[in-house]
Amino acid sequence: MSDSQEKIYYITTPIYYVNDVPHIGHAYTTIAADVVARYQRLLGKQVFFLTGTDEHGLKIEKTAIAKGLSAKELVDEVVERYIHLWKVLNISHDDFIRTSQERHHRAVHAFFNKVREQGSIYLGHYEDWYCVPCETFWTEKQLDGGNCPECGRPAERVKEESYFFAMSAFQQRLIDYLEKHDDFVMPKSKLNEVLGFLREELRDLSISRSSFNWGIPVPDDQRHIIYVWFDALINYLTAAGFPDDPERFAELWPADIHLIGKDILRFHAVYWPTFLFAAGLPLPRRVFAHGWWTVEGSKMSKSVGNVVDPEAVVEAFGVDAFRYFLLREVPFGSDGDFSEAAIKGRVNSELANDLGNLLSRTVAMVKKYRQSVIPAADVESLHYREFSVLNEEVRQEVTRAMDDLAFHKMLAAVWRLVEKCNRFIDEQAPWALAKDDSRALELDQVLYCVLETLRLLSVYLFPVMPEKTAQMALQLGQPEPAAASGPEVFAWGRLATGVEVVKGESLFPRLD
Ligand code: MSP
Repeated sequence: MSDSQEKIYYITTPIYYVNDVPHIGHAYTTIAADVVARYQRLLGKQVFFLTGTDEHGLKIEKTAIAKGLSAKELVDEVVERYIHLWKVLNISHDDFIRTSQERHHRAVHAFFNKVREQGSIYLGHYEDWYCVPCETFWTEKQLDGGNCPECGRPAERVKEESYFFAMSAFQQRLIDYLEKHDDFVMPKSKLNEVLGFLREELRDLSISRSSFNWGIPVPDDQRHIIYVWFDALINYLTAAGFPDDPERFAELWPADIHLIGKDILRFHAVYWPTFLFAAGLPLPRRVFAHGWWTVEGSKMSKSVGNVVDPEAVVEAFGVDAFRYFLLREVPFGSDGDFSEAAIKGRVNSELANDLGNLLSRTVAMVKKYRQSVIPAADVESLHYREFSVLNEEVRQEVTRAMDDLAFHKMLAAVWRLVEKCNRFIDEQAPWALAKDDSRALELDQVLYCVLETLRLLSVYLFPVMPEKTAQMALQLGQPEPAAASGPEVFAWGRLATGVEVVKGESLFPRLD
């Protein structure tokens, strides 16, 4: 990459386990990443947005056996659920990585060898508790009174040969790094959590198992399968072209941001940086851990039967309402509760009443008072200047909020424009202005300002609601928001005038 070339903005989601079907938790991370990717593209950045699936391990091998399938058959079947869901949710990823792919196999081997050559991998013995019927290892802490926390039967102490990663050697270096880069882990409260983990001594990490087969073998030692995180985390490098395409890799790595849920923070903010230190590779710029969703006040669980299928939510409320709700309901980083009443409330008040009505009443007025034609701007008019100042404030708030991934704040800032327009129409009463020919220019300016704000709303809201904002632009006779690109996308005064508005369907019909 030459110095003048801007680095590609590289954003990732976790790779999802395929021993289970996708639910709203998985949808949440992926939608959030999609919003960031679309926002960065709007700003004119080149973006590489990666998602995918984590397909190896004992659990998958066991699930496959229970279903009478091979592991490969099982993962090929479940991965389709994810691919289909991302289509339904309008996820605009650029690549979909599967850890069972050949390219990943090569990357994990190259990474393992690099770290081993550097002296940070050794062969030792792993000792822990093991449940024979469940074929699962447990730590002392996880046991339930000496028994397996899954089946309740007694666990046995076992000792197994294993490769280890010398993680302890990197503890001080990581602490120093985090102290110098206090925006590496976001939100801030999570950085303290990570520093908390690091107050205890880091133990070397067992990174191989010889008790199952479904995974990537250790290079030159087929008895061992590389274990979970030393396989999964490498996906972020594989997709960036490691080790086969160094040029591509230089354009993409380090990743700009890994979006994850709070439960996998330790792996991304402790394990991953130490792996990268050992391999001599730069760390990602940021790791952002979001909160967890409960459903109607309870933890989602298969046994309770309250796991929410995102496709069913889309069916009931529409994809953009779902995307909007997830990002508006709770600050990104905090926990939230998903309920039908809450999503319905937001659809009816914010989307149908505030935004949808604003569009339909505006289009109706342009049709009635101006034969559908959008009037020209008067850049000297008071309204024009007032709106352009407000928009500039909103633009700055949006930029700040998006830099912090504070989606709820971004939406609140954008809603200042929605509320302003609704108030403005009530105050200016275009229906009265229309009765007085001497006030025609005034009416033009009122309509212009509201129309231009609506056009800007279609751009601001595009990353969150790509379908509805495209419909908005169409009704306003404006170019698709997806086509907008560059630092000036949020500038006031770019409405195409002299074109016709087109009355369309109601954007968000009210839900009963
Ligand atoms: N395979 C690992 C990640 C490896 S990344 C190198 C994994 N997969 S997972 O499928 O179990 O979870 C993926 C993500 O879903 C995690 O970020 C997790 O936080 C998120 N969620 C799972 N349940 C969730 C909720 N109830 N609410 C919000 N997010 C949740 O972990």
